[in-house]
Amino acid sequence: MAVNDPLNILFLSSEVAPYAKTGGLADVAGSLPGALKRLGIHVSVGLPLYRSVKEGPFQRQLVFKGLQVPLGGQTLAGNVQAAETEEGVPVYLFEREDFFDRPNLYRTAEGDYYDNLERFAFFSRAALLFARATGMRFDLIHCHDWQTGLIPAHLSTLFRNDPFFSSTATLFTIHNIGYQGLFPREKLPVCGLPPETYHPEGVEYWGAISLLKAGIVYADAVTTVSPTYSREIQTSEYGLGMEGILKNKSAALHGILNGADYSVWDPATDPHLLCNYDPDHLSEKAVNKAALLRETGLEPALLERPVLGLTSRLSHQKGCDLLLPVLDEVARMGVGMVILGEGEEGYERGLREAAERNPGKLSVTIGFDEALAHRLMAGVDVFLVPSLYEPCGLTQMYALKYGTVPVVRATGGLEDSIEDFNSETKTGNGFKFGPYEVKAFLAAIRRATDVYTDPTTWENLMRKGMSADFSWKRSAEKYLDLYQSLVAARRRF
Ligand code: ADP
Ligand code: GLC
Repeated sequence: MAVNDPLNILFLSSEVAPYAKTGGLADVAGSLPGALKRLGIHVSVGLPLYRSVKEGPFQRQLVFKGLQVPLGGQTLAGNVQAAETEEGVPVYLFEREDFFDRPNLYRTAEGDYYDNLERFAFFSRAALLFARATGMRFDLIHCHDWQTGLIPAHLSTLFRNDPFFSSTATLFTIHNIGYQGLFPREKLPVCGLPPETYHPEGVEYWGAISLLKAGIVYADAVTTVSPTYSREIQTSEYGLGMEGILKNKSAALHGILNGADYSVWDPATDPHLLCNYDPDHLSEKAVNKAALLRETGLEPALLERPVLGLTSRLSHQKGCDLLLPVLDEVARMGVGMVILGEGEEGYERGLREAAERNPGKLSVTIGFDEALAHRLMAGVDVFLVPSLYEPCGLTQMYALKYGTVPVVRATGGLEDSIEDFNSETKTGNGFKFGPYEVKAFLAAIRRATDVYTDPTTWENLMRKGMSADFSWKRSAEKYLDLYQSLVAARRRF
């Protein structure tokens, strides 16, 4: 059943580009609302008012002072500020200095902030109370990852009989099942949940509370960010203990591939590049390559050789255990490599040491640098995504657009967006390997660097990638269909 009047959607996420970003969740929450707006939906976005937002170049104004938010037996006050994206999407920023005015979003080098439960329980509860206090009635609240998992749970329990929310549906999107929002059971009061929610069909997870599970169990429907990942997480290999509840919910579980935001990631318009290029001006890509070699201190002779690149969180998920063992061999092959990332200390150290062993061939930058991520994408020939698992992955889609050929492991969204190159039929847009093994990864790199030596075939491969369309429109249409069916079901209820 279609719903005719424009839907009113609230999008809640712990990170939203360009306000606050540690990974792809921010890219999605920064781009999908604009794509939905273009389809005629009213969409508003909410996130915490972090220090990065305060220090950023964003115009904002106070719209609600002294919101009273119950949290574990106390009532904490918060404010709400409002901003607007370039596309005119309203953004609500939930302010409480002691929770959010900190150097990072979730953690320091020593580990997670000790009060992450309090911080995100506050954000979740504040968002609902703000909507009610201001009379903003949403047809659907779209929640993302564990940080917002309490929202569907609150609407199904605490606010179950509140007429204000009686026609508000919920959708919960899993961007990564590896982050489960686990907290000790004694913290149930901080979650604001009644004791009867603490059971295996509720928020209980192996003797603890999981906010990810709360989102999955209590939302009207669940999505994840690629069709393959939606199947993988129903297996014990990828479900990380959540496979049972996901299988139970499989009729309401959908895989919708993310899109790429070409207003941010397009070499023809990218303001971070020394020289813009498009399929009709491919040779200009080499200007960016030469500049990247200079910037990262790699040998100028590598201009004629394949140069590989990787930009990633440095974690087990991202395939760092495959990456570290191939670095010396790649350098021995006379192939360059530029790496940008930050994350687990052991991987950072391993990469730095490999760069010291291979001066002029391997450059490693530890840190988070948006501008360098763009210059790297334009400046290398091959982009590596050797993930152990990958719910969607965005960088392989950006790579295609930049004429940078991806080498990926066949999992999750990498499986759904990259087709393996076949040297006989010349079909495919990248190189894929299956087994999570160093040997298989290296073989895929060798296949790519071999094809690189045949300029005509390589150029065709680049062009094919550049012409692919992973823009948000198609995904936004799928979300719209799903929103409509959930809202219609809620209205019938
Ligand atoms: P994930 O969300 O799992 O980290 P995605 O591929 O979905 O993976 O998104 C990663 C996003 O974060 C991309 O926009 C990528 O360019 C960016 N990114 C990752 N690490 C860095 C870094 N060190 N510096 C700048 N951007 C980074
Ligand atoms: C997660 C996943 C990544 C996905 C991103 C956006 O961080 O690890 O694969 O692209 O979310 O959905």
